[in-house]
Amino acid sequence: MTDRTDSVFVITGSAAGIGRAIALRAARGGARVVVNSRKAEKLDQVTKEIEDAGGEALAVGADLRDPEQVDTLVQRTLERWQRIDVLVNNAAGRFLAAAEQISPGGWRAVVEANLTTAFLCSRAVFPVFRERGGGRIINISSVGAYGPNPGGAHYGAAKAALNSLTETLAYEWGRYGIQVNGVAPGPVLTEASRYAQEEQRRLVEAKLPGGRIAMPDEIAEFVLSLAQLRTPYLNGETVRVDGALRGMLHDEP
Ligand SMILES: NC(=O)c1ccc[n+]([C@@H]2O[C@H](COP(=O)([O-])OP(=O)(O)OC[C@H]3O[C@@H](n4cnc5c(N)ncnc54)[C@H](OP(=O)(O)O)[C@@H]3O)[C@@H](O)[C@H]2O)c1
Repeated sequence: MTDRTDSVFVITGSAAGIGRAIALRAARGGARVVVNSRKAEKLDQVTKEIEDAGGEALAVGADLRDPEQVDTLVQRTLERWQRIDVLVNNAAGRFLAAAEQISPGGWRAVVEANLTTAFLCSRAVFPVFRERGGGRIINISSVGAYGPNPGGAHYGAAKAALNSLTETLAYEWGRYGIQVNGVAPGPVLTEASRYAQEEQRRLVEAKLPGGRIAMPDEIAEFVLSLAQLRTPYLNGETVRVDGALRGMLHDEP
């Protein structure tokens, strides 16, 4: 089940950034890959990249805050490949703001993007995994989940709750052979992140123990290793992949 060859990965929020890197790596390893973001047209490029390299991809535009669209994602995957082996809950969204400036709507938006999407997708794949006797869920968390997270009260709280969800789902579903683990990256250089700006990147890199920001493919490599690991006893764990940063770097609003 954990061999990438022939297995089916569903990777949420995979039009760009870390999700895209995970999709490309999984496809290179022989997996059939479902790519997703809210807008189907955003998926054209990553789908083409996978197919041009000889891989197989299915693009499903779906807003994963909506349970019906989550069901559509799962149904379309099953129609195409009749199985799901790995769900990577990667979809996310955030904005920087001091806690007192976060509106109720802004709070809800960030919690829904980072936490509710993961819950709904996990809940939707559960019957599929239970029926086939196992499956893997990998939740993409963040170092923002640990300690204070100035400028990201909503994001840090949502990611800390995601870590808790990882533990609970692993506990409740372990009896069905389902492994639920998490990966918590430190700063990663993605197109949409502010680290894409030279000045911002330099500021962050000056504080990083290794002196450089991580690339999306480094995180993808670890996610794929976790997906392949034959250690069923590793369950409910969120692994920080942060170059030993821990809570030493904080975003300022
Ligand atoms: N980059 C970093 O420095 C960093 C550090 C630590 C952790 N992380 C975590 O790593 C993951 C990936 O980060 P990233 O920087 O690569 O993110 P990103 O570039 O912002 O990509 C997020 C993806 O999620 C999709 N998405 C957002 N809301 C969605 C929804 N409701 N339904 C479906 N898709 C949705 C977005 O596409 P649409 O907008 O088209 O829907 C996009 O493809 C996230 O979980 C993030 O919290 C990132």
